[in-house]
Amino acid sequence: MEEIKKYIAKELSKVLLNKYNIEMTLEEIILMLEKPKDDNMGDIALPCFKFAKVLKNSPMNIANQINENLEIDNRISKCEVVSGYINFYTNSEKLCKSILENIIHKGNKYGYVNVGKGQNVTIDYSSPNIAKPFHLGHFRTTIIGRTLYNLYNELGYNSIGINHLGDWGRQFGLVIIGYEMFKDEYDIEKDPLHILSEIYVRINKLAKEDESIFVKASDNFKKLEEGDKELLALWQYFKDVSMKEYDRIYKILGCKFDSFNGEAFYNDKMDEVVKILDKKGVLVLSEGAKVVKLSENEPPCIILKSNGSTIYATRDLAAVLYRSRTYDYAKSIYVTSYEQIHHFKQVFEVSKFLVDEKYTKELVHVPYGMVRLKTGKMSSREGTVVYLQDLIEEAIAKSKKIIEEKGTEVEDIDLLAKQIGIGALIFNDLKHNKIKDIVFDLDEVLRFDGETGPYIQYTYVRIFSLINKSGIDINTIKKVNYIFNEDEVKLIKLLDMFEDIIFETAENYEPSILVRYIIDVASNFSTFYNNNSILVEDNNIKEARLLLANSTGIVIKKGLNLLGIETPTKM
Ligand code: ARG
Repeated sequence: MEEIKKYIAKELSKVLLNKYNIEMTLEEIILMLEKPKDDNMGDIALPCFKFAKVLKNSPMNIANQINENLEIDNRISKCEVVSGYINFYTNSEKLCKSILENIIHKGNKYGYVNVGKGQNVTIDYSSPNIAKPFHLGHFRTTIIGRTLYNLYNELGYNSIGINHLGDWGRQFGLVIIGYEMFKDEYDIEKDPLHILSEIYVRINKLAKEDESIFVKASDNFKKLEEGDKELLALWQYFKDVSMKEYDRIYKILGCKFDSFNGEAFYNDKMDEVVKILDKKGVLVLSEGAKVVKLSENEPPCIILKSNGSTIYATRDLAAVLYRSRTYDYAKSIYVTSYEQIHHFKQVFEVSKFLVDEKYTKELVHVPYGMVRLKTGKMSSREGTVVYLQDLIEEAIAKSKKIIEEKGTEVEDIDLLAKQIGIGALIFNDLKHNKIKDIVFDLDEVLRFDGETGPYIQYTYVRIFSLINKSGIDINTIKKVNYIFNEDEVKLIKLLDMFEDIIFETAENYEPSILVRYIIDVASNFSTFYNNNSILVEDNNIKEARLLLANSTGIVIKKGLNLLGIETPTKM
């Protein structure tokens, strides 16, 4: 639709200038153009309400006048004035051709729009807490964050992925005590993270009965903060074994980060935060702690505890300061569960005392809902937590079984099972509106029909093999000599929305918008495919339909890849 919008804008700009002496750039006019709410009201609409005030006339009159003076060629089949809008009906035939030709021309670059102009966007995501295995909750931040990372790159920004590891805090003082106490009971190397988290649960329980253990844990953390070599060596060990496991998971998921600067990284960067807040006169003493008071009904944000230790929020404040300086970001996104809404509200509020307004304006928290099992909420104490590693293995094994049962010509079944299994997990997760809690059911996720990852991958495979079977080199088809039918026009117009969908998904931080769109594309393709033969005698029809299938493939592949899902070419 971009080409045709440009054309309409150009013609409108002439009328606006000649008739009303209003000078507007094409970009400004394009921004005014809307999609009519009702499909029967045309394809593009110009609302004339904004002109009413300047021109001291009614929107209806203005719309009529503009319409009368507009000179439009056969790219537009009809213009109609309806209650203050001019509705443009595009000539489907011409429009469809130009849409397809544009997609084929851009190939896998279709979807890219340079609105970001190389500005930096930081995306803080995944960020697991070390000494614990990766569980389903962190899976969500990982794949939502990664999608946003890809989308902002696609919009011409420079995405910077930050894994703000949870590697600092009193809990490590506690883990150290537990480790010293219980380590001889285990063969830690065998499964370090499960054992460390078990030790954590045990020592936590003891500490609840014996307050002195918590005191010692705080003490240990204080020593860590001050650089105690022995304790730091233990902490480093916890971190190393954790990173080893996380790296393996990131590799399977295909996730990359530009920075692993976690909470510990800010240990020597918090003094400055305290100093700035102090200097601004906002740091006050409250029950021995140093806090910043926020609005009336809100609890204050603790900066230093009474023993002088820092907390989670202090480290996030240091991170805002550091990221503003290091990345000069245009936007800074944080993806965590909704349990941290309050935390980020406080941090963003206090940031206003630390950095320039341009860095606080675009601080964005992206919260998401919890994952529940069919059997109820996950709890580490009750041993009902699902660990991602186990889930990934199960998904891959089940996919493999399904593939083998269905029969396949693919040689590397393990690779295919991995692409399908992981793709299914990601697709299912991103399909839901992110703020909603989701109930997890692996069998449902792995179905090969319905709104699932495997189904969409399968649609892609069908397109791919269809084009192969045709024996025609799709790159040699340059022109469309055919008038598209209703199913086809519908699909083409949908493909044309891809750029807008990418923009909308990123702007709302809502991957489900893109997922829903891909489902829509696949289902419209199915309708087209079921109702129309593609490999027919008539060359013009065959080529036009192959181009349409190929364009659909480009959009599905690109869409899935943006979500971090691979697209096998055979299944
Ligand atoms: N480690 C935290 C958690 O697991 C998430 C960190 C999110 N990022 C941040 N800058 N606070 O809940």
